[in-house]
Amino acid sequence: MTQLLKTQIGNLQLRTCLYNASGPKCTSSEELLELENSKSSCILSKSSTLEYRQGNPEPRYWDHEFGSINSMGLPNKGYQYYLQFAEGKDLEKPYFISVNGLTLADTLKIVVEVCQSEKVQGMEINLSCPNIIGKGQLAYDLDEMDKYLEAVFDILEKQKNRNLSQIIGVKLPPYFDLHWYPQVTEVLKKYPIQFITCVNSVGNGLLVDLESQTTRIRPKDGMGGIGGKYIKPIGLSNVRNFYLEFQKQNLKIDVIGCGGVTNGLDALEYILCGASAVQIGTQLYQEGSEVFERVENEMIQWLNEKGIKGIMELKGKLKTI
Ligand code: DHB
Repeated sequence: MTQLLKTQIGNLQLRTCLYNASGPKCTSSEELLELENSKSSCILSKSSTLEYRQGNPEPRYWDHEFGSINSMGLPNKGYQYYLQFAEGKDLEKPYFISVNGLTLADTLKIVVEVCQSEKVQGMEINLSCPNIIGKGQLAYDLDEMDKYLEAVFDILEKQKNRNLSQIIGVKLPPYFDLHWYPQVTEVLKKYPIQFITCVNSVGNGLLVDLESQTTRIRPKDGMGGIGGKYIKPIGLSNVRNFYLEFQKQNLKIDVIGCGGVTNGLDALEYILCGASAVQIGTQLYQEGSEVFERVENEMIQWLNEKGIKGIMELKGKLKTI
């Protein structure tokens, strides 16, 4: 078995740096089991709320050759389903639950239970869903984000039965101006956050069908999160900027890249920018879980051709011309 793609998030060792983004094909237990049986190095659930949610009215997803637009509106089975999924199973790979309580109170209830599970190796706290009708993206309001994280980590510290080996991170939206990176970092570094995932979908894009003169999706006047090829340059720059900021400040926070990964070369670009691992979303939706094996093989082939002994030789080493 090749060691070329081995990585670590916090103290958690991963067979490879590739796994699924919280989003497509990780909502039902069948889908989660498919990830278990694929070459994804871990299993990450759909963002979970306190209760089951139907999500936004359909059509709410549209695929395009350059990517996707979605306004799913957090359809999910409720966090207890995602806890129960792992109970009574011996999953072969690490299992992460994505949490988006919609309100702080609900998020606190969820994290208090998830943090006690020995079957859950990590939590990705989603601070950046663009598709909730009437709600903005939390991580674009740094005071609100700070209060939210303070409450989450306060309550976690008080838990007696907490699984302390769980790693905790946050999913961030894309930032489009350089002043954000140090400001967001000032907030993040106050808390024991072990990773950030950059980026969530680019919020409130619009895809149009000229023929019918309509939007492609129904909710929010057709606005939705953009994923796929359209957003790779944005994902790369967010990873790079946070990676450089964390290095400058000597912060041990892993950066997980996400956005527009369709092949092994895309994933390697993320590693070069500083990602410790890389998630796949839109391409997983379009291709199915075989994507992980294909992308893994493409990465290995490129590394072998270049004589590079592992992704850690490449990580963060992007040069400016
Ligand atoms: C949804 C979309 C997101 O980008 C996200 O972070 C969480 C949920 C959704 O619409 O379901």
